[in-house]
Order: sequence, then structure tokens, then C-alpha cells
Amino acid sequence: MPKVVSVVGNRPQYVKAAPLALALAGRADVVGVDTGQHYDPELSQIFYDELGIAPPAHRLAVGSGSHAEMTARILERIGPVLEAEAPDWCVVYGDTNSTLAAALAAAKLGIPIAHVEAGLRSFDRSMPEEVNRVVADRVSDLLLCPSAEAVANLAAEGITAGVEQVGDVMADAARLFGPIAERSGALADLGLEPGGYALCTVHREANTRQPALGRLVDALSALDVDVVLPLHPRTRAALDREGLALGGRVRVVEPVGYLAFTALLRGARLLLTDSGGAQKEAWFHAVPCVTLRDRTEWVETVARGGNVLVGDDAAAIGTAVEVPPRPAAWPPLYGDGHAAERIAALLTA
Ligand code: UD1
Ligand code: UDP
Repeated sequence: MPKVVSVVGNRPQYVKAAPLALALAGRADVVGVDTGQHYDPELSQIFYDELGIAPPAHRLAVGSGSHAEMTARILERIGPVLEAEAPDWCVVYGDTNSTLAAALAAAKLGIPIAHVEAGLRSFDRSMPEEVNRVVADRVSDLLLCPSAEAVANLAAEGITAGVEQVGDVMADAARLFGPIAERSGALADLGLEPGGYALCTVHREANTRQPALGRLVDALSALDVDVVLPLHPRTRAALDREGLALGGRVRVVEPVGYLAFTALLRGARLLLTDSGGAQKEAWFHAVPCVTLRDRTEWVETVARGGNVLVGDDAAAIGTAVEVPPRPAAWPPLYGDGHAAERIAALLTA
């Protein structure tokens, strides 16, 4: 059996890795590496528990730090692991510092790299994720694209070898785990009625700095709808640092696991978010999305009328919440929910 090292370390990466682990079961020797970039249980362990991911063989425990510190620590610690494991593939997911560092380390060791969610671009190099994606794609051997747009982005950069449009593993996760999300009891736990609230997430670097943070606090606090906000620890720390507090009809709760988040999303009137993954999940579950950014990698959701980009502009946020973007239909934009099986076939060919 081929040996596949699967590198995770952030909340969205657990969601992406889970369907692939299922698809590879019995077909490959999957060795999990967790960088430890996320370490609070509600951003990490809860996903192992809920999504049935096997405990990692290697925990790098890098923790938080500057981009340079985190990337350097992962590079230093993952190198010996990759060397000892000598896998047939190193699989990396998405666009985080864990993705970048693992890809770089594998590239230097001559280990073939498969990048899940290749080809995404915001065309905004001030986003740390954009740099991570561009570099990871450059050094990858197998570029696993969720959409035709992603394939086109790579072609525009001259990357065509090893490019495969497989669909989106997050659509797989929604298909596999969405049906059991209702059992989480998340709405009842929070005393919520379906359709009676907006769900919100905020954690993007640019939105946790001033002046964007203050603008978002004012805009969200002024909304005429109940807002449930499972708060990312980065944003909580930023609010404390700046002496800001959310008010009005915003209810701040701790970050929740995938099942509760999916249940909250499915029950929401709309989603307000700067998350990458949650924008897509809103589409999967036919929930209007108001994106608190000026650009998105998931351009199809905007083009099809299910997502609107409002940045941190209070008037635009208010208007979008009053009249949420709602297309006539929500056709599948990111594959059929079987992307992981295609990826597994490519990795075990
Ligand atoms: C990271 C990714 C981002 C992804 C997000 C998913 C990078 C550059 N960013 O952003 O692309 O969308 O994960 O959620 O890789 N913290 C905690 N507990 C934790 C983890 C973080 O309190 O378990 C706090 C620390 O104060 C830390 C801050 O959050 O400094 C930021 O964490 P970091 O991993 O650098 O970035 P995220 O915003 O989580
Ligand atoms: N998510 C979650 N609990 C939360 C917020 C998000 O489980 O409180 C899930 C969400 O369903 C999606 C993923 O986390 O699968 C998105 O991660 P995040 O927004 O942190 O990162 P991004 O996608 O922006 O990189």
C-alpha cells in the first residue's frame, strides 16, 4: 500500500482531511501529522472526535506566533518526520502556514506533494493565505482543484502538469456529516428557532486589525436581527486588545464543533462571514451569504447570486442583511460530494 502523510493543523483542515481519510481507508497507509497551529480543543480536538479522524502519529505542537515563527517552527519539526516516514505522498490542504511549511519541507526532501484546494486565488497578496497558496501550488506535483476557475487560475500562471479538477472535499464533508449535524441539538442548546437568526464568523487577519475591526463591531452591533457569533480566539483577543465589545443583538458564544456549526448554519436566515470554507458551506446548504471581505476565492457563489461581498461597510452590511442574496436555485458548484474518492484514486494509482 502507498504511504500518505496527511498534514493538518487548523480548524478547516480537519474538515478537509476527514473525507480523504475515509476514502483512503484500506487503500493507503495514512500517517497523520498535526502541526498544532490550532491547539484549543474547540479548534482542534473536537474535530478529531466528531469526524472520526484517527489520532495523528506525529504532533508538532508549534502553537501560535508570527508568520515567520510559525512557518519556521513547522519547517524545523516536520523535516525529520517526513524524512523518517519517507511517504509516497505528502498531502497538504488549503492555504494556511501549516500548508506552506509542510509543502516546502516536502519539496526540499523530494517527496511528492498533493495540494488539496489548489488553484484558489483572491489576487490579494496582502492576505497571508494568498502567499501560502501561490507557493504551495508552485511546489506541488498533484494540484487538486475544486473548480474550473481554480484550474484556469493555475493555467494563467503556467501550471498545467498534475492539475486535476476533482471537486471540493468540503462538499464531501457536507454530504457525509451534514445529515448527522441536526442531532447536535445546537439550536435548542442556544434557544434558537430555525430562520430566526443570522450566523456570523470573523477571524481574517485584516478584520482583526483596526480600523476594520471597529467598523465591523459597529456594523454588527447595529443590525436589526439576532446574530449568533461563535467567536474565534484571535478575534476575542483583538477585541480585548482594542477595548471593543459587540453589542446590540449580537450574541457571542465560544467556537463550536463542525456538527453544531453545520446545524446553526442550516437553521440560519443568513451567514455573515469572512471565512473561506463557510462561504462554500452556505452555498451547499442553500443559505444566503454576506461576506465581510472585498474579495473572495469562491467567485462562483457571488456570480450565481448566493453571496455578496460587503467588506466592513456598515451600510452595505445592513442592506445585504435586509435583502439577503438569494439565487433562484443552488446547483452544485463544487462537484458531487465525491472529490475524496477521486483524490484517493489518484494517490493510489
Ligand atoms: C489560521 C489561518 C487561516 C485560517 C484559520 C482557520 C494562517 C496564516 N492563517 O488563522 O488561513 O482561515 O487559521 O481558523 O495560517 N489562537 C488561540 N487558540 C488556538 C489557535 C489560535 O487562541 O488554538 C489565537 C492566538 O492568539 C493566535 C491567533 O489566534 O495568535 C491567530 O492564530 P493563527 O493560527 O496564527 O491564525 P488564525 O487566525 O487562526
Ligand atoms: N467551523 C466550525 N465551528 C465554528 C466556525 C467554523 O466548525 O465555530 C467550521 C466550518 O464549518 C468550516 C470551517 O470551520 O468547515 C471553516 O474554518 P475557518 O472559518 O476557521 O477557516 P477558513 O475556511 O476561513 O480557512
